[in-house]
Amino acid sequence: MPHIKVKPFEHSIVDKAIPKSELLTFRAKALNRGDELWGIVLDNEEFLLQVKYYDDEVLIKYDKVTRPLKVNLLKEALARVAEELELEILSSNIAQHKEVRYASAYEKKIEDFYDVSFPKEKVCVEVGFGSGRHLLYQAKKHPDTLFIGLEIHTPSAQQVLKQIELQGLENIWVVNYDARLFLEMLPSNLLEKIFVHFPVPWDKKPHRRVISPMFLDESLRVLQKGGRLELRTDSDNYFWYALETFFGVPQIEVEVRKNEALEVTSKYEARWLRMEKDIYDVYVTCKEESPAREALGEFNFNIVKYKNGLEQSLPQKAVVEKDYFVHIERLYKTDDNQLLVKCSFGSFDRPEHKYIFLNENGCRYFASPPVKTSVNYKAHQKLTELLSDVERN
Ligand SMILES: C[S@@+](CC[C@H](N)C(=O)[O-])C[C@H]1O[C@@H](n2cnc3c(N)ncnc32)[C@H](O)[C@@H]1O
Repeated sequence: MPHIKVKPFEHSIVDKAIPKSELLTFRAKALNRGDELWGIVLDNEEFLLQVKYYDDEVLIKYDKVTRPLKVNLLKEALARVAEELELEILSSNIAQHKEVRYASAYEKKIEDFYDVSFPKEKVCVEVGFGSGRHLLYQAKKHPDTLFIGLEIHTPSAQQVLKQIELQGLENIWVVNYDARLFLEMLPSNLLEKIFVHFPVPWDKKPHRRVISPMFLDESLRVLQKGGRLELRTDSDNYFWYALETFFGVPQIEVEVRKNEALEVTSKYEARWLRMEKDIYDVYVTCKEESPAREALGEFNFNIVKYKNGLEQSLPQKAVVEKDYFVHIERLYKTDDNQLLVKCSFGSFDRPEHKYIFLNENGCRYFASPPVKTSVNYKAHQKLTELLSDVERN
């Protein structure tokens, strides 16, 4: 991931540059540690750079929580920071690749789904598309359908965005996000199909599997009556686990097939076929319409502001409730009483990682609010409580 190593420099040059800079917005120092976060605004995107000071060099690199999907944007930010501050670069990996402009119109952020209209009447979702062979094939074959591809592995998402442009497809949206959280973004009764092909089996950590009772519930809410969840797996364990998960659910019909040939073979499938492994399909058809999803409250911190002493009063250990948790992981402070709180929260098996930015005028998530799920909303309310009540803590 992009970084630069530069010669040690006088810290005050950053503070002097910030008021004049259109790129650098603030510099926040970690409490009780030497590293820093720098706020960046570039191309209408807001993100952070991490800065670590060593004796003979300073490392400036991307921040995992806020990094933009476009790697070239990060590289540009690093190059421009070095230029603005006149830093002497010792080494770097920010040479810009000749940009193959991927079809950014087809890259959707999770926030885009808060108020979205779908350009096609028919909509399908593919979970964990990997190399994208199946997703691209389906989109080409069904131009009247919008295919939303979900993939947590950023390089795969970027590869498929490039392919969309190269193949001139207009009916795919790529979302670089966890599928287990994503379905909550969709309205009820929308989808024709949800493809889950060769999900990671997670035999030792089954709680990380995509298929779960909660995922099934959400799938059935967003599938139309007659719509289908299609699981394809080479794992005996996963196959039986999925059947157990689906067993006894009243509003579905389950169909099982073995070693069925599909029109398109994914990279994983090709490998299993060479090894002569059995491949199972489990088709779950939704037999009922679902009610509209419940509206959640807003994820803002209207009443919260930075108050002296807040950093000392925040809990150091995770606050654990029945179905969610809140963990204040690290605090960063600017000289003028602005606090950046790094935290994780939400459900235990799919937590959110965010920063919260507080000053004497207000408080907001940096750079974007969490995904609007019911569990995240409970965690948000707990965070509001912790951040607003300095005395009580
Ligand atoms: C074994 S690969 C299969 C890829 C592709 N479906 C195929 O058949 O070749 C599993 C893929 O799912 C992605 N993945 C795993 N968990 C995910 C999640 N919760 N949300 C979205 N993608 C996920 C992984 O990054 C990986 O690319």
